[in-house]
Amino acid sequence: MESGPLRVIIVGGGHRSLTYAEYAQLNKDRMQIVGVAEPDESRRNMIAKRFSIPPEHCFRDALALSEAPKFADAVINGTMDHIHVETTLPLLEAGYDVLLEKPFAVNEREARLLADTAVRTGRKVMVCFVLRYAGFYRKIKEIMLSGAIGSVIDIHSAEYVSYHHMSTSYVRGKWNNSDRCHSTMLLAKCCHDIDIITWLMSETKPKFISSFGSCIQYRPENAPEGSGTYCLVDCPYVDTCVYSAKRLYLDHPDRWVVYVWDKLENIENPTDEDRRELLRTSPYGRCIYKSDNNIVDHQSVNILFENGATGSHSMIGGAATGTRKISVTGTKGMIYGDFEEGRLTVSIINPDPGCEKDDTEITVSEHENHGGGDLKLVEDFVAYCKGEKTSVSCTSIDGSLLSHLAVFLADESMEKGGIPLEIIT
Ligand SMILES: NC(=O)c1ccc[n+]([C@@H]2O[C@H](COP(=O)([O-])OP(=O)(O)OC[C@H]3O[C@@H](n4cnc5c(N)ncnc54)[C@H](O)[C@@H]3O)[C@@H](O)[C@H]2O)c1
Repeated sequence: MESGPLRVIIVGGGHRSLTYAEYAQLNKDRMQIVGVAEPDESRRNMIAKRFSIPPEHCFRDALALSEAPKFADAVINGTMDHIHVETTLPLLEAGYDVLLEKPFAVNEREARLLADTAVRTGRKVMVCFVLRYAGFYRKIKEIMLSGAIGSVIDIHSAEYVSYHHMSTSYVRGKWNNSDRCHSTMLLAKCCHDIDIITWLMSETKPKFISSFGSCIQYRPENAPEGSGTYCLVDCPYVDTCVYSAKRLYLDHPDRWVVYVWDKLENIENPTDEDRRELLRTSPYGRCIYKSDNNIVDHQSVNILFENGATGSHSMIGGAATGTRKISVTGTKGMIYGDFEEGRLTVSIINPDPGCEKDDTEITVSEHENHGGGDLKLVEDFVAYCKGEKTSVSCTSIDGSLLSHLAVFLADESMEKGGIPLEIIT
């Protein structure tokens, strides 16, 4: 590969691609955005302007880009879940390396097809498992690799999806119905967590998986008596319901702006009335109990690893606060942490008189944790494409296939009443 910045094209100019593209603005010597493929004309024009992209390098979609002569090294594919594979295959054939959003595929057949195509074409694909790059999880990995807690016996993680996140992204949001978005709740939300468990346990592989889950909260029979269908149109509970769109989005106009106010992005300064009007018809203004959701609101997953160790993950939607928690228990000690607080406790067994264990508290700074993960992932992608040394977090497709297979089987197990299923790699 030539020296100089990695030349990258944005495919799907939505929220996520633009987050990753920030890396180019901050690191001009490492990455340059040189093209865009985006069906939405105003988004395409906005990106062309922001990155000074000439008209001949602006395309209406991924397919049109793949049919043009190659003019860059790689693409960032930030399209929606169900078209990740169909948009990526022709770009691999056209010779581009790809940074691809998670989930990289929505079923096993597509996942294997993409992984095989990457091998056949000799192209590099990295999956946006950004949590692996968050300081919190990197620290856990580092402690495990140091041998401080001994051999791992069990990993348990839990994701508490806050009531407002659950409402906005899932029950009435873009990932509320798997028949339309083709992702289940586990795939859309917790493929990150299953990936973290398999990545942390990289000395062994998951062998069996089972899962239970259902939706018990967001159902029509739980709607308060006399409730309406749209919070701001016909509901007497508009000022009292915890899921009232007025309380969630008008009283807090900055909450989940990228999703809720998406349709207003072409208006320079939307007024309160613009927002009210949108919520009268938008999915985000629907009664939470009468949406057309088919996803679970809680699910637990159990994993048996080849070496006998176990893993488990719980997704609990509608929690008062959103966070992730994890405990890793080894033969010499354990690590316990809360992601949102950015705090880890490492407890090492110590049977000395007056002791039981030695505790070390570790704080991971806010900067290293959240947004930091996104840009660290892009940094690693640039290194990967350039053939330089990558980090321990590297989310290459071969290292990401296993956790996707685990998620697909967990959902199948849940559908079949929780029976254990074998993961065939
Ligand atoms: N890694 C993470 O932590 C994380 C977090 C949130 C979302 N995501 C994932 O990021 C992805 C994108 O989410 P988003 O909210 O940015 O979506 P978005 O809807 O804002 O952006 C997707 C863009 O793709 C464009 N598009 C559609 N068809 C296309 C085609 N054929 N060729 C090129 N562009 C096309 C759309 O017009 C849209 O602008 C999703 O898969 C989502 O699951 C990942």
